[in-house]
Amino acid sequence: MEYAFFEGKYVPAEEAKINIKTNSFHYGTAVFEGIRAYWNEEHQQLYILFAREHYHRLLKNCKAMFMEIPYDLEELVEITVELLRKNQIREDVYIRPVAYFKDLKLTPKLIDYTPEIAIYTYNFGRYLDTSKGIRVKVSSWRRNDDNSIPSRWKVAGAYVNSALAKTEALISGYDEAIMLNQQGFVAEGSGENLFIVRGGKVITPAYSEHILEGITRSAVKKLLKNELVMEVEERALARSELYIADEIFMTGTAAEITPVVEVDNRKIGDGNIGAITKELQDLYFRAVRGKIDRYMGWLTSVYEK
Ligand SMILES: Cc1ncc(COP(=O)(O)O)c(C=O)c1O
Repeated sequence: MEYAFFEGKYVPAEEAKINIKTNSFHYGTAVFEGIRAYWNEEHQQLYILFAREHYHRLLKNCKAMFMEIPYDLEELVEITVELLRKNQIREDVYIRPVAYFKDLKLTPKLIDYTPEIAIYTYNFGRYLDTSKGIRVKVSSWRRNDDNSIPSRWKVAGAYVNSALAKTEALISGYDEAIMLNQQGFVAEGSGENLFIVRGGKVITPAYSEHILEGITRSAVKKLLKNELVMEVEERALARSELYIADEIFMTGTAAEITPVVEVDNRKIGDGNIGAITKELQDLYFRAVRGKIDRYMGWLTSVYEK
């Protein structure tokens, strides 16, 4: 039996249903997270990656949306651990917490409504091709501006922007989109942050560039600093720098570390996965599965030893 956490209880997943009149369903005001848990066969353990960091972001975003959900960070981690145990998950899995206003009322506002949170598990598999790399298109759709729908917050409505860009890329025969911000600088992918390597330097758009403050982005910065002794330059990144980059990769909970081998029909580097990207992937995939002692702090164990 697959369970979901819904309206304060663990219920069979197929019974976790919202009313069509649910306010957040109409106005995109739900706040959500995407979390991965990785199975380690040797340890016979399921590790949730960055559980606290994800719930910290969720709670901050909820607060900004006047959505005071009735659980604190530790309670949310506990509920998630319990859900994974109940579902007896012994493989890689994706976890989707979603907070929303459950009122059956039709006014697009954020106050005087009742917040609720649901959490369910999803068999995601690989989101993008991490082994061969992907072909991307600079989108004709611009990233949401911070003063319209903040990209910094993981709010459902902001993903209309992502869906438009991703769809345009797919219809045009590419795997993913890169969106520019309203100022014309590189922001991010439809569900990923972006890094380039140029002349031995690693560069990523700064937080001020209208991007989501990615948790994987921070993890990659740590790996670069600790393991490759490289600092990341965070600044405005011009579109033209993409075409002359030596390497490009995208990061995200779903995307993990995905190499970009082509942008707008121009090969990046020699069109193969770059050396720094490869090294980061090797480190990341070991760290998330509990294979590097130094990064065990990133993980929450689901099963008791
Ligand atoms: C628009 C966008 N940018 C970046 C990311 C990467 O964020 P994280 O690494 O926290 O998953 C995501 C995924 O959640 C996203 O949806």
